[in-house]
This record gives sequence, C-alpha cells and structure tokens, in this order.
Amino acid sequence: MRKRGNSLSLAPSSLYKRAFLEYEKLMKILLLGKTGLLGSEFLEIFSREGIPFEAPGHHELDLLNFDKVDQFLAGNFFDLILYCVAYTKVDQAETERGACEQLNVNVLRNILTHRRPIVHFSSDYVFNAPSNMAIPENFLRQPINFYGETKKQAEILLEHSGVDFWNIRTSWLFGTHGENFITKILDLSKEHDVLRIVADQVGRPTSTKDLAESVFKNFILNRSDSGHYHIQNSGTPGSWADFAEYFLQKQKWEGRVEPIASENLGKKALRPKNSVLLNTKSPENLRDWHEAVDEFLQTRQ
Ligand SMILES: NC(=O)c1ccc[n+]([C@@H]2O[C@H](COP(=O)([O-])OP(=O)(O)OC[C@H]3O[C@@H](n4cnc5c(N)ncnc54)[C@H](OP(=O)(O)O)[C@@H]3O)[C@@H](O)[C@H]2O)c1
Repeated sequence: MRKRGNSLSLAPSSLYKRAFLEYEKLMKILLLGKTGLLGSEFLEIFSREGIPFEAPGHHELDLLNFDKVDQFLAGNFFDLILYCVAYTKVDQAETERGACEQLNVNVLRNILTHRRPIVHFSSDYVFNAPSNMAIPENFLRQPINFYGETKKQAEILLEHSGVDFWNIRTSWLFGTHGENFITKILDLSKEHDVLRIVADQVGRPTSTKDLAESVFKNFILNRSDSGHYHIQNSGTPGSWADFAEYFLQKQKWEGRVEPIASENLGKKALRPKNSVLLNTKSPENLRDWHEAVDEFLQTRQ
C-alpha cells in the first residue's frame, strides 16, 4: 500500500493518465475519403500512430446513400469524423452543379445530423479578396465559382450545426497520393519546350503531408478551439507560373515557362486572383513551400 501522502501527490498525474487511457479506448475516428489526395495521408498517419479508426471506402459506404450512412452512423460510435470527401473538379462543377452540391453540401448536412465532432476541409475558393493582402479567417466569403459556393454553403452548415467543428481552409494541394499540379506539369514538360502557365493568380502551394501532420497534431490529438482555420505552407507567395518555374528548374528542365493571364486558359470556372491565406489561429505554421516541394521531388526519384 502506498502511503497516503504519496498517493495524494501522485493523484493528479495518475488520474490524468487513467482518464487519458480511458479516452484513448473510446477514441475512434471515422475517416471518410481515404483514397483521396489528402485522405490517404491520414490513413498513413493513423496506421503509423496506432490510432483506432475506421475508413470505409466509397464502394463500402457510398455517402450519397443517406439511409445506409444513417444506419452506419447510428450503429457505430465515433469520437470524431474526419471528412476528406469532396467533389473537387472545379471546372466540371460549373456544369455538374447537382453532383457537386450533393457531395459537398447535402452529404455533409446528413452527416451533421448525427452530431459528431468533425474536421472538414474547405478552400481558398470561398474568397475573392483583393490582391496584396493575406486573407484572415474571418474575411468575407464571396466565392466566384460554383465549387467555391458549395464550400461556402458547407461552412455555413458547420456554423449552424451546434457540433464542434474544425474547418480547415487550404489551397493548391500536392502530395504523393494522386495527380496534382506538379505531376501534371512534370508530365507536360516531357513533351513540350514551352509551357503556358497562369501568372495572375497568387497563392502558396500546400503539401498534403504537412497539412495532415499538422491537423493530426493540433486538431485530432489536441483539440484546438472549434472554428475556421487557415493552413497553408509558408514562404513567399507566388503565381502558378512561379510555382512551376521553381520545380521545373529543380528538375533541370530546359524549356521555358510563358506566363499568361487566367482568361487565356479558357477554363470554365473563374478562380480568385488571391489565394494567400493568413493564419492567425492555428498553433502551428507550416514550413516554407519550397522546402516541401523539394522533399516531394525527392520522393519521386
Ligand atoms: N486538391 C486541392 O488542391 C484542394 C485545395 C483546397 C481544398 N481542398 C479540399 O481538401 C479536401 C480533400 O481534397 P482532395 O483533393 O484530397 O480530394 P480528392 O482527392 O478528390 O478525394 C475525394 C475523396 O472523396 C471520395 N468520394 C467521392 N465521392 C464519394 C462518395 N459518394 N462516397 C464516398 N466517398 C466518396 C473519393 O473516393 P473515390 O476516389 O473512391 O471515389 C476520394 O477518396 C476537400 O474538401 C477539398 O475540397 C482541396
């Protein structure tokens, strides 16, 4: 038997530890979108860290089947939902509005009726901010394309849901688990000597690996306050053309990037000119995007 004095002095930490272990037993995360560019990073982290989770894939749990989703969520307890699902084809969304709205808004609305805390991902495309400013979390939402509109609607649903939510706005994702701007441009650079790339949209690319690690640390293990957050790699902002120049040069490509205006690309959806997000709330700033791109290029060698 421990002496009373000892047990008293040990009580707070041992109680804390016991509570934490109990909490760990309860903690089970539902990961939705495990095959996506971002979702697959969480799959890796949870496996590495031994975090209890379930990650039904699209064919196991089609989120458009609301009855099935209701049954699944009613029959399983999840401490947190990690919502990496989205309709992300920004140009196609202009003509497939129903499909985009269904996945980005209506599926989320259904899931929120189950009242579980949720981490949701949104986009720089909810804004249309003037250039030469970094956009803070509480800036006016004014999307200029349909995808951005559905992301805004999703954010409003979260705000009115009454559940704890962490809405992470991010931008220009690249990672090892799917096609992205870097992989597309590198493929094109094998066939072309001149690449025409947009130079009037300015932002910062974001590594899915860095983003997922930061979300895991600050919003899954430690629950920062509920609300909207901006997470983007840091470093000097640049245009898509600057971004491409950087990694093409690193790959010793001998061609030329021709900077063009967005209008000359003939895309269906308009894009905001400013995608520079200001982080005033997240406890962590991500490393410089140049460093993250260097690491990404190394993984491809
Ligand atoms: N990519 C970017 O540059 C970017 C920028 C800013 C914000 N974001 C946001 O970041 C988040 C993650 O984006 P991402 O690029 O990783 O998306 P993604 O690669 O397009 O992945 C989307 C995921 O949704 C799943 N899914 C689609 N329809 C489904 C359905 N009916 N039922 C179940 N699952 C379904 C897909 O599964 P299947 O593949 O099996 O269909 C896939 O796992 C999204 O909220 C996005 O809006 C992305």
